[in-house]
Amino acid sequence: MGIAPPSHVFLQAGVGAMAGGVLGYLADIYDANQLHSVVTEPELANCLYRSGIKGEIVNVDGDMPTIIAGLACGEPNPLGWTVLRNWDRQFISCQDAVAALGMRVLGNPYQKDPRIISGESGAVGLGVLAAVHYYPQRDALREKLGLTKDAVVLLISTEGDTDVKHYREVVWQGKHPTLA
Ligand SMILES: Cc1ncc(COP(=O)(O)O)c(C=O)c1O
Repeated sequence: MGIAPPSHVFLQAGVGAMAGGVLGYLADIYDANQLHSVVTEPELANCLYRSGIKGEIVNVDGDMPTIIAGLACGEPNPLGWTVLRNWDRQFISCQDAVAALGMRVLGNPYQKDPRIISGESGAVGLGVLAAVHYYPQRDALREKLGLTKDAVVLLISTEGDTDVKHYREVVWQGKHPTLA
């Protein structure tokens, strides 16, 4: 497509099947050791984040009242987990406000960038990037994520405005504001 290959890929995960499939594919076609991969999840359903810390599958149960409903899954997919365990570099557990920030940025793009109407699950990755940008100690976070000025970050939105009412509450009315 005439664009540089990604230095980073941010993949949102419920059970991790999508993230494992995409990362497995990317690890095949790029130098997997150079590709900085990050799996993002809602903090109320962060089974892969916890699995990443422990090095083995950890389930999360109980209520998951997150706005990131598509990713509200508590049991990692065993096949996806195998790929993520071997190849994913970082796991990030996100508050709802991160997804809301991503929805607002995608819907109100920079200059001539295309407008993307993204629902909660699709917007978490860009939300992480924007949250890092607005974080007071952002340089330390950027360093941890390897986000230099030359970074090319691949993001895939997997959801439109599935819940139109909630989409408008977030994007028009500012529901789930970014934390300081
Ligand atoms: C909108 C959306 N995006 C991403 C995912 C993530 O998929 P997975 O459960 O394979 O991690 C889901 C899961 O249902 C989803 O609904």
